[in-house]
Amino acid sequence: MNQVPYVPSSAPFSPEQRAWLNGYLTGLFADANVGDSARLAELPAVKPDPLLVMYGSQTGTAEQLARRFATDAEKRGFAPRVFELNAFASVDFAKENRLIIVTSTWGDGDPPDNAAGFWQHLNSDAAPQLDHLSYSVLALGDKTYSDFCGAGKKFDERLEQLGAKRIHPRAECDVDYETTANGWMERVWAALVKVGQASRLPENRSGDSPIQMTTEHDVASSRHEAGGTPAPRYNRANPFPARVIAHGKLNAAGSAKDTRHIGISLEGSGLTYEVGDALGVMPTNCPTLVSDILQALGCDGEEAVPDGQDCETSLRQALLTRCQITRPSIDFLQAFSERSGDAELKSLLVPARKTDLDEFLRGREVVDLLSNFPAARFEPAQFVALLRKQQPRLYSISSSPRAHPGEVHLTVAVVRYQSHGRQRKGVCSTFLADRVENKVTPVSIFVQTSHGFRLPADGDRPIILIGPGTGIAPFRAFLEERRALGATGRNWLFFGDQCRAHDFLYREELEAMLADGALTRLDTAFSRDQREKIYVQHRMLEHAREVWEWLEAGAHVYVCGDASRMAKDVDVALHEVIQKAGGRDAAQAAEYVRQLKVERRYQRDVY
Ligand SMILES: Cc1cc2nc3c(=O)[nH]c(=O)nc-3n(C[C@H](O)[C@H](O)[C@H](O)COP(=O)(O)OP(=O)(O)OC[C@H]3O[C@@H](n4cnc5c(N)ncnc54)[C@H](O)[C@@H]3O)c2cc1C
Ligand SMILES: NC(=O)c1ccc[n+]([C@@H]2O[C@H](COP(=O)([O-])OP(=O)(O)OC[C@H]3O[C@@H](n4cnc5c(N)ncnc54)[C@H](OP(=O)(O)O)[C@@H]3O)[C@@H](O)[C@H]2O)c1
Ligand SMILES: Cc1cc2nc3c(=O)[nH]c(=O)nc-3n(C[C@H](O)[C@H](O)[C@H](O)COP(=O)(O)O)c2cc1C
Repeated sequence: MNQVPYVPSSAPFSPEQRAWLNGYLTGLFADANVGDSARLAELPAVKPDPLLVMYGSQTGTAEQLARRFATDAEKRGFAPRVFELNAFASVDFAKENRLIIVTSTWGDGDPPDNAAGFWQHLNSDAAPQLDHLSYSVLALGDKTYSDFCGAGKKFDERLEQLGAKRIHPRAECDVDYETTANGWMERVWAALVKVGQASRLPENRSGDSPIQMTTEHDVASSRHEAGGTPAPRYNRANPFPARVIAHGKLNAAGSAKDTRHIGISLEGSGLTYEVGDALGVMPTNCPTLVSDILQALGCDGEEAVPDGQDCETSLRQALLTRCQITRPSIDFLQAFSERSGDAELKSLLVPARKTDLDEFLRGREVVDLLSNFPAARFEPAQFVALLRKQQPRLYSISSSPRAHPGEVHLTVAVVRYQSHGRQRKGVCSTFLADRVENKVTPVSIFVQTSHGFRLPADGDRPIILIGPGTGIAPFRAFLEERRALGATGRNWLFFGDQCRAHDFLYREELEAMLADGALTRLDTAFSRDQREKIYVQHRMLEHAREVWEWLEAGAHVYVCGDASRMAKDVDVALHEVIQKAGGRDAAQAAEYVRQLKVERRYQRDVY
């Protein structure tokens, strides 16, 4: 017998919601004597199942996925709430049944900044017991890092230790995350629906729509879909072919460094950004390197290979635009070692020899392997299939849209170095520096929204900006923005680079800002102008008393630039400032910094 749907098509639900409700009600009343023509108005309302979606995200990818998941959850009849992991204090875990965590990994297997506080909490004496909680984790990472998806793994394991029930296995996404993330999202629903099914009963109808569709956090993401703000036409999956309109060197002649200021037109893109966002740039590879690889392969480049979309392209084109052809991936090395028959290469791949493998790979690229192990032969299509997909690079935006409408500016350190007898070129930085012709070459871009790196809403607040080298980028944007907004808060910049004479990036602009008051204070640390290194953190310590005064006056602290050493040392220095000038002991200083993070007064954009 055909079942007449319980929920009529006139009811104010999307087709998916209606289908879900009909399925649910059919199951619920399967044994009851309810007539086929039952109507919604006569039925008890179904209370949507609450679902907590929490994310840890440094540059917005995990956050976007978390919000997309929440939007889907609404369509499937859940009542999702979305929070960053550090907002755990707003959540009463005792009342939560379902938790989804979407998190990326930063540093060396660490949680992103907006998840670090929650990680600490889960490992403290105050960690909640979570026996009643059902959860699953979507982890984002990059296989080129040794602790792949480390943060996602840690959260997954710790939640289990605290008694929570893993209802669906963790997914681990590499940089090309879409397929794995979508697969996990498709499969996790069945497990989520089962949670608490036995105890789930309809409540009395209140007269309102039975499905509470939105919460405060969800409104923004739903509005995006529903047409409040149109979803951007251009994004990571569909970048905009922009044109470079300005390009200049920021280092003077004689510098050991090569940093470029690059202006890109957004005309015709519909793309918008806020200061603190990053720009994604999809590069093409260096044609000379492609020719060297073709030569080592014994190919002329005209060989047909799959283009990844059910069509064919030439081998040369695939190597230029689609493939990552510099750093070899582990999968590539594995296949390569088998084909080369080289015993030493093969033995480097056993987990116990990880350090030796890292040492072997330092400064070695795909082209070196092909030249050094000529016994390894590949069919063109096999070779392309072994290479990873080219990935976009992110750059902190160095302009304010109010100061430069229709444009976006970048501050790019060009990567060039010598290794194993070859001159190496960073793919994207040399693409922008050497291979893009102003106003001619299309540059594929998208805006990577960052919700975690933002100016204080209150323009009266003081801000302390710590940005050596290219770390200056977002702070140029912040200062332009505060000036354009007429913000009255004090602005203090710590900038450093190798040498004052050659490497004082944006010197004229910064000095003009000092003169007109847009910049209250500028402290510089030129590391190589004297025998001992002087870095920005040394300047912070020299001026510890004033830094402390600014902190006590409510200053927000921002750090941008090198993650591997600078950001860690600046963090140590901030703790020292609080101890030295604030009269706190080490534990109190750590608590002070923790509180700064909770209040979003200590934000970092580090890479
Ligand atoms: C959120 C975010 C913001 C960023 N903002 C900026 C910014 O504002 N400005 C900026 O310039 N960059 C920024 N970056 C870095 C940028 O994304 C790229 O990583 C950088 O430009 C290098 O990319 P590339 O393609 O030129 O080099 P790649 O081809 O990716 O090569 C870089 C790799 O080369 C290797 N390498 C480099 N030097 C050496 C050496 N001496 N010896 C051996 N190996 C070496 C290292 O393995 C390194 O990872 C940012 C990154 C992130 C994640
Ligand atoms: N591999 C390379 O040869 C190379 C070269 C430049 C940049 N990079 C990388 O490229 C990216 C961008 O570089 P960038 O132009 O922004 O400059 P950067 O290399 O971060 O240097 C900017 C300034 O920071 C100093 N610095 C070095 N270590 C520091 C520390 N622990 N704490 C504080 N300051 C420190 C540098 O001094 P000193 O350099 O005098 O120590 C320099 O004066 C960074 O991620 C960096 O790692 C690589
Ligand atoms: C400085 C830096 C460090 C990273 N460290 C790791 C790591 O240790 N392990 C890993 O799997 N991925 C690592 N990643 C990759 C990120 O997790 C990955 O790019 C992720 O998609 C970023 O997501 P987000 O935008 O939500 O922060 C690192 C990326 C950067 C730029």
